[in-house]
Amino acid sequence: AKVYYHDFVVQATKVKRLCTTHNTITVNGQFPGPTLEVNDGDTLVVNVVNKARYNVTIHWHGVRQVRSGWADGPEFVTQCPIRPGGSYTYRFTIQGQVGTLWWHAHSSWLRATVYGALVIRPKEGTSYPFPKPKRETPILLGEWWDANPIDVVREATRTGGAPNVSDAYTINGQPGDLYNCSSKDTVIVPIDSGETHLLRVINAALNQELFFTVANHRFTVVGADASYLKPFTTSVIMLGPGQTTDVLISGDQPPARYYMAAEPYQSAQGAPFDNTTTTAILEYKSAPCPAKGISSKPVMPTLPAFNDTATVTAFIQSFRSPNKVDVPTDIDENLFITVGLGLFNCPKNFGSSRCQGPNGTRFTASMNNVSFVLPSNVSILQAYKQGVPGVFTTDFPANPPVQFDYTGNVSRSLWQPVPGTKVYKLKYGSRVQIVLQGTNIQTAENHPIHIHGYDFYILATGFGNFNPQKDTAKFNLVDPPMRNTVGVSVNGWAVIRFVADNPGAWLMHCHLDVHITWGLAVVFLVENGVGELQSLQPPPADLPPC
Ligand code: C2O
Repeated sequence: AKVYYHDFVVQATKVKRLCTTHNTITVNGQFPGPTLEVNDGDTLVVNVVNKARYNVTIHWHGVRQVRSGWADGPEFVTQCPIRPGGSYTYRFTIQGQVGTLWWHAHSSWLRATVYGALVIRPKEGTSYPFPKPKRETPILLGEWWDANPIDVVREATRTGGAPNVSDAYTINGQPGDLYNCSSKDTVIVPIDSGETHLLRVINAALNQELFFTVANHRFTVVGADASYLKPFTTSVIMLGPGQTTDVLISGDQPPARYYMAAEPYQSAQGAPFDNTTTTAILEYKSAPCPAKGISSKPVMPTLPAFNDTATVTAFIQSFRSPNKVDVPTDIDENLFITVGLGLFNCPKNFGSSRCQGPNGTRFTASMNNVSFVLPSNVSILQAYKQGVPGVFTTDFPANPPVQFDYTGNVSRSLWQPVPGTKVYKLKYGSRVQIVLQGTNIQTAENHPIHIHGYDFYILATGFGNFNPQKDTAKFNLVDPPMRNTVGVSVNGWAVIRFVADNPGAWLMHCHLDVHITWGLAVVFLVENGVGELQSLQPPPADLPPC
């Protein structure tokens, strides 16, 4: 196994998009940031130097961080932020993960521009369980704001209303040629006739689930979130923010140029193929007119309608692990957690300028009615390890305070989230099942729920209220897929299982940044087991001061 050293300089950089030049926070002046490439078993040592005027941390999304939880990155959960002028070296080893992950800032909304791909190839001397592709390309789907994204979220936090939506979707940082001033920067992905190409698709958008397709080509889906899948074919995939999907495409079409495109799922803004569709171009190297720039018009794809839940459900239900897996059958911790939005009734002294949500309220969000509040002067992991009192309480409820019809017309009295820094403690090695139940409150969006420090099996997903009698029969205990982010439908549920064998403080949250801003999160504190190999490593000496 190798050790790779990288320097990440977080800095303001001039970036031109949609006809204007913007001062943008980047890593090493690149947008999107550098792609990191390793093999399973390798170690990454990334020295992050903060030359920007904002606090920053970097999270290695999906990396298990076995015993190395101090390198996980979420601000005020595993570390205090790297202040302007400061630095911190993240050091961790990839253990038993192959495929595509990514890295992103985990402080305020900085990840809008501070993100990149993490490519993990099989352990040296081993190979993919499919024929080796001739080319591999990361495809990062993102969102672009003309305004500074930090200002967008600050304004929303000040008023209590919903933040402005982005000005463009992007593929590898470029809106593509349906947007203004974007034609000459449209990303070109090459392919040869007859070759197989691995696309590593990553949804790095802040707040939007996205469909992705390539005109006239079919995908063979081979992995997601750095776990292999039993291959299946489809012409369109859907990813929630945080999720990755590895697909093979073959150069089996007449040599030409074909659009690849991404488009919102579950958004009022959805309209297939217009100037809100981000595009890149798959270009056959042998195309008759080897176009420079955009002369020959690419073949147009068809995208599902924004509300095409049937397509998404069929896609998600095709996910299987390649082989029979070892799902924990006996459960030590059985949690039922509601995920949803809510409204905060402003007390009189709040002032109307701070309560510009629906009917003079503020937007909020919660799990089991607790709206998560980050500490502001120490991380939860430091407070836990050093015994700092008064930072968090350990009374996050394993069930909602009241049971109700989660997907009906939810009575106002049931959705008044209470702010708090409540964590849930897990003993080392406990077998955990979580039923995630979406609630029908103030949203038409699904919640992509991500857990740090773990991959989990998805036993089943469904619509309506989870019914323990009926729905348990639907559990796949044979070959369920393994992921780090699961889509919980609005009006629906998902059931996941994992073994809590990685000690540390691990955030579970909705990967829509707007929802984490409103408190859709909780932290699991996993205790050390017996001996060094079941314990969190000591904190690095350069952990940023609080
Ligand atoms: Cu992609 Cu909390 O992270």
